[in-house]
Amino acid sequence: MIRVKIPATSANLGPGFDCLGLALQLHNTITVEPNQPFQISLTGSYRDGIPADASNLVWQTMCHLWDLLHYPNPSVALTLENHIPPARGLGSSSAAIVGGLVAANTLAGSPYTKYELLQVANSIEGHPDNVTPALYGGITLSVPAKDGIFPRVLAQSPNLKAVVVIPNTRLNTEKARGILPTHVTRNDAVFNISHVGLLIEAIIREDYSLLKEGMRDVLHQNQRAILLPGMLETIEAALEAGAYGAALSGSGPTLIALITEDSKQEVCQNMITTLEQYGVNAQAQVLEIDSYGATLSIT
Ligand code: HSE
Repeated sequence: MIRVKIPATSANLGPGFDCLGLALQLHNTITVEPNQPFQISLTGSYRDGIPADASNLVWQTMCHLWDLLHYPNPSVALTLENHIPPARGLGSSSAAIVGGLVAANTLAGSPYTKYELLQVANSIEGHPDNVTPALYGGITLSVPAKDGIFPRVLAQSPNLKAVVVIPNTRLNTEKARGILPTHVTRNDAVFNISHVGLLIEAIIREDYSLLKEGMRDVLHQNQRAILLPGMLETIEAALEAGAYGAALSGSGPTLIALITEDSKQEVCQNMITTLEQYGVNAQAQVLEIDSYGATLSIT
């Protein structure tokens, strides 16, 4: 039996659009029993609405990898335990893709390296900022280099916690990308380039006081504020309550604040209350950073 545990992820971290991300200790698990009639069983808190037939994203991804490897599709029984809320900006589709790739590669005798799996994951997902931390853990930078995505782990186990405030409503990534302009001004590009630099300095030097400025963005958050009433005000509320920095998680609607243990109650409370003032119901969770990325066990 093969079991793959894959973390939730939060992409962008403010200015790092499509390139920065981090892994969180909230996991989906894929269990594969080889030599069984094909079957998909769904468990976990977010199993509703996930297809249990051949259109399932985990299964589709496994078949895609076997096609690339010219490996005949084995008959397997899958159990998918889903705890990552879907369509909330916490990397549920990346978890399905990364988990499916790791499981299928293992069944085929592990011909692909982790780096090669990342390239396949990116080709399926279309942007690497969730799949890189889902595979590698920690806080990651994905660099679109000449030969593919160049993954860098900026910090494997940073001394940070994350408050994730998850609205009850779903938001489709394509919609949230569709509203963004295709061109940016030079001033906005300079703003984000410099802020990503500052954010990376904060992480590498462990000087988290720099995150407040370093997580500011002008390329996508203001533009997406129409999709989540109170979004910008909630980010400010997190900072006022003592968060180091705060941002929209991926394309939303979840918001993320990076904190220490001391400020967690106040940050959760301030963020939830502010969103409520704009008519948005949400639940807050405090999560540790996941240091491992997708992990595999074989029994
Ligand atoms: N970076 C993406 C976006 C989301 O903001 O649209 C996650 O890949």
